[in-house]
Amino acid sequence: MAMGKENVRVLIPQEDLERRVAELAIEISRDYAGRLGGDALLCVGVLKGSVFFMADLLKRLTVPVQVDFFQTSSYGSGTTAGEVRIRKDVDLSIRGKDVLLIEDIVDTGHTVRTVLGLLRFRGARDVRLCSLLDKVERREVEVPIDYRGFEIENLFVVGYGLDFDERYRNLPYIGVLEAEPDPPSPS
Ligand code: PRP
Repeated sequence: MAMGKENVRVLIPQEDLERRVAELAIEISRDYAGRLGGDALLCVGVLKGSVFFMADLLKRLTVPVQVDFFQTSSYGSGTTAGEVRIRKDVDLSIRGKDVLLIEDIVDTGHTVRTVLGLLRFRGARDVRLCSLLDKVERREVEVPIDYRGFEIENLFVVGYGLDFDERYRNLPYIGVLEAEPDPPSPS
């Protein structure tokens, strides 16, 4: 995506994010209470976008947690479209664990499908997916989202972890990136 000057329009304000994250944390804490058998819930984020959401969510969970990360990259286009490469693997053992995969956004679905498959292959006891955003219109492969923050339209979103050219991740809200109109020419 090439762009000159950009403008960010607020799509999901900070207060709405905070409210929804708190609701998700209550739901997740309730679902996992009593099913971990003394073990911790292994929360696995996909770098880098999930970091802000994950930090806020995990601070609110009332079950014991462990934290780890994957980093992935997708091959661009053509015959390899949808092929996802693991660039950084988790450090912790997955076998026998209850794993909650945490994403900022599910777009085509290829990233989470690959990572969920890998977690199951590694012998996780149970794997669930929590994604803040769901851009459902863009889906190419079906993936069940167990905990979903917001369904959004097919817009270029930034903020709260999401970037454009590695910028905007630290915005405290989700915004839509729009090209700024050219200034009126002097008459
Ligand atoms: C984004 C996002 C998801 C993935 C979703 O990550 O954080 O991991 O793309 O896309 P998909 O559903 O089409 O697979 P990205 O690769 O842009 O890396 P980043 O999180 O470091 O920005």
